[in-house]
Amino acid sequence: MIAGKIFYRGEFVEAGIEVENGRIKKIGKLVESKRVKGVILPAGIDVHVHLRDFAEKRKETIETGTLSALHGGICLVVDQPNTKPPVDNTKTYFQRMEKAEKSAYVDYSLNLALTNSNHEKLGEIIRKISKKYFIPAVGEVFIQHDSEDLQINYETLQKVYGRFEGVVFTVHAEDPAYVAKGTPNFVFRRREAEVLAVEKLVEIGNFHFCHISTRDSAKEIINSNSTFEVTPHHMLLSVDDYGRLGKLINVNPPLREKEDVEWLFRNFHRIDILASDHAPHTLEDKEMGASGFPGVETMYPLFINLALKGYISFKSLVEKIASNPARIFGFKGYGEIEVGNFANFAVFDFKNVTEIRAEDLHSKCGWTPFEGFEAIFPEKVYLRGREVLENGVKAGNVLKHSVNIM
Ligand code: DOR
Ligand code: ZN
Ligand code: ZN
Repeated sequence: MIAGKIFYRGEFVEAGIEVENGRIKKIGKLVESKRVKGVILPAGIDVHVHLRDFAEKRKETIETGTLSALHGGICLVVDQPNTKPPVDNTKTYFQRMEKAEKSAYVDYSLNLALTNSNHEKLGEIIRKISKKYFIPAVGEVFIQHDSEDLQINYETLQKVYGRFEGVVFTVHAEDPAYVAKGTPNFVFRRREAEVLAVEKLVEIGNFHFCHISTRDSAKEIINSNSTFEVTPHHMLLSVDDYGRLGKLINVNPPLREKEDVEWLFRNFHRIDILASDHAPHTLEDKEMGASGFPGVETMYPLFINLALKGYISFKSLVEKIASNPARIFGFKGYGEIEVGNFANFAVFDFKNVTEIRAEDLHSKCGWTPFEGFEAIFPEKVYLRGREVLENGVKAGNVLKHSVNIM
């Protein structure tokens, strides 16, 4: 039994939760003796992380990335396939899932890459993988990518989309025509790259758009049947952070002008999903111009603080970080505190506002673009009813989880 102030059906209620076999059996009367300090929210889902591993262990591993997720109140991550080697075939997909089964601290699932070279075999690959694992999406489909292997053109995507309705396609929407190759992206990448790609893609079909960063493309998607996610860095940082971040600034899509940032912030209630695009690179790699920000551990804590200060509502936050991701990607049993669902909770003490410090975080990359920002980290995290994080510290005997739903 876990009891206290619970976020239930859009509001805080005083109640007790009975758990059986990792799932919520009953939500009922408050039992004072079992009361936890702080408020109990559904643990978050981060549908966009790059956990590296394989040949890029120095940046991050599934183990360190999911440990970072756990400390950020996230119970399920969706890993992206632009690994080295990429997850564009059955063998690599199975290899990675098996690795996750052994080393992930939170539930783990994996998108399958769609590339110019594997699209003809996509049906067969999906069929084989689906016998064992639930594939949340085919993505992150790169309309533009530095590596030719991962890039895909509109024509191919249109062809493939036509054959696979019902499959969630996640798209990194940046039109190559607007991206200057080999140049620092924050100077030369124009916002038109995203706007144009989104305009073309909504004509092709319904997609889930990764990391939307401009108000024009957001509005375009809102008026379509597609869905989209926004990252904390595109809502909280802007080109004005160049001075502070220096060499750390590179990220795709790039940080935007204040007008876009403020629009996304003001329209938080209209976005579908808040996702981190956790893309860890070491400081050395950043010096060399690598693009990407870490963020899986700081996302929920930053936004809990914003909700507490009244900038956004808790209802909206829980929707974007838990219930919508579960619904859009089809994760049954996740996203809401409801009878029958997994008992996955994050407990936050609203009095415990801290400043984010890279040295306190658990990603291997060793830095954060949110250094010094106010945040509220979870005191406790429960996964399938087990307390796996206690007083902000990993509990001794953490269960290794992995998603294996069919
Ligand atoms: O900045 C980025 N980093 N954008 C991407 O789309 C990929 C990511 C990465 O994997 O480093
Ligand atoms: Zn991307
Ligand atoms: Zn990404």
